[in-house]
Amino acid sequence: MKEILEKLEKLRQQARLGGGKARIEAQHKRGKLTARERLDVLLDEDSFEEVDMFVEHRCADFGMDRKKIPGDGVVTGSGTINGRLVFVFSQDFTVFGGSLSETHAAKICKIMDMAMKCGAPVIGLNDSGGARIQEGVASLGGYADVFQRNILASGVIPQISVIMGPCAGGAVYSPAMTDFIFMVKDTSYMFVTGPNVVKTVTSEEVTAEELGGAVTHTTISSVADGAFENDLETLNQVRRLVDFLPLSNREKPPQRPGHDAAARAEASLDTLVPSNAAKPYDMHEVILKIVDEGDFFEIQPDHAKNIVTGFARIEGRTIGVVANQPMVLAGCLDINASKKAARFVRFCDAFQIPIITFVDVPGFLPGTDQEHGGIIKQGAKLLYAYGEATVPKITVITRKAYGGAYDVMASKHLRGDLNYAWPTAEIAVMGARGAVEIIFREDLGDKKKIDKRTQEYEAKFANPFIAARKGFIDDVIMPHSTRARIARGLKMLANKKLENPWRKHGNIPL
Ligand code: HXC
Repeated sequence: MKEILEKLEKLRQQARLGGGKARIEAQHKRGKLTARERLDVLLDEDSFEEVDMFVEHRCADFGMDRKKIPGDGVVTGSGTINGRLVFVFSQDFTVFGGSLSETHAAKICKIMDMAMKCGAPVIGLNDSGGARIQEGVASLGGYADVFQRNILASGVIPQISVIMGPCAGGAVYSPAMTDFIFMVKDTSYMFVTGPNVVKTVTSEEVTAEELGGAVTHTTISSVADGAFENDLETLNQVRRLVDFLPLSNREKPPQRPGHDAAARAEASLDTLVPSNAAKPYDMHEVILKIVDEGDFFEIQPDHAKNIVTGFARIEGRTIGVVANQPMVLAGCLDINASKKAARFVRFCDAFQIPIITFVDVPGFLPGTDQEHGGIIKQGAKLLYAYGEATVPKITVITRKAYGGAYDVMASKHLRGDLNYAWPTAEIAVMGARGAVEIIFREDLGDKKKIDKRTQEYEAKFANPFIAARKGFIDDVIMPHSTRARIARGLKMLANKKLENPWRKHGNIPL
């Protein structure tokens, strides 16, 4: 018996050592943690339950039958984050460069299947050279098996990808189908074809960092949702995000005990919106002053900054926040903002997270770039997402709600449950000056006349009361009472039931 126990312990030691001390040192030298060290940071202490530690690849080609390492380059299992169950896989770059073999893929699929059965998120820590080259098509099949599971799990359990090293070729498509991607600055990159292929095909010279580093993907491409300084910070931020999310679509978002009173009035909001409609203010300030303890987890903070998206809490319960940002492009909706917010709204709707929308939008961004880039279909994504969402929707118009953008931003007409406006709200087809210049074209040469007409138009339409008279706005509220009104609204809507007509699936304008 003792011998068997010793053998077991030896095998475990071997698996824990992965690709060996030299490769672990090389990993550390690059400022990266190992696959197991990362799980130690991500999961609660002593909560990790590993499976498939002894799995080995079955490849016999290219001398691979003589190179076997227990675990085969990926550490898999379950654990907890602040006491809540999650499933994890962590690719081990020290073992065959973290490359994905048939058995490596099977290990990932096993925990994904288990996560679906148990109703808990999957968090994948990616650090891999891609398909195991020695295995050829077996490895490609393995990727596709993972892809299929990503697709079926979408909207059922949250899926989070953390890119902590290379992620190239077709390998990028598994993270791409998960809900959130986080990247580590300087040590991670994602691309379909790397710099060498790019140079051969297009003669472009580009570094891996420029092509697919964390900054590129969180600012330009929007492939990733957040970039952090190092492994430690990234994993701690993933823990923070998980705290906001329900474990699956079968449960309501978690409620965390807090000390922020629901009725807390925030007097500074009464003077936040400048009286000059052309002057911006920071929408972050509105959000931070309203949500519990100023705790806001922003998604894609560095892309399409004209719209702000992220998770927060009211009375301890998770909400999704979408807000126009007057500081950037005056808060206009454009292609990137529409896509960013649409995806966020759909995530919230899939996982029963109420959506709070703060509106200050002068309309859609004009220009050939936008029209040729398909703002018609891209803007429709956000319209569609809001309109199909059945979760509680509370909207607060802080200032401008002009034109089509008024309709889009969770208006009453798109089944907004509670639509509030601050007294500073201006709900109209367009800004007063533009409207006057169209209606009174004959007076265009006469500045005095135009100014007077503009003032008249403002007095008549640049307020929330016409919309309130029609019932498009449920109430005009004092800014300082916004938190209390949202909290009451969420309580009222806690058991909201609304179902869309049966269909196989809708056809969102992709
Ligand atoms: C097998 C691999 C491997 C792979 C790396 N290794 N990638 N083994 N299959 N895909 C091994 C290396 O041989 C090496 O082994 C060890 O991992 C570390 O790799 P290095 O090259 O020394 O590390 P580094 O210099 O950091 O470079 C990392 C790298 C590079 C940029 C990822 O290894 C690389 O270019 N690898 C190949 C990438 C690739 O072409 N993959 C296939 C993509 S196509 P030793 O024993 O020497 O330490 C694909 C299709 C998926 O993924 C399709 C899905 C639909």
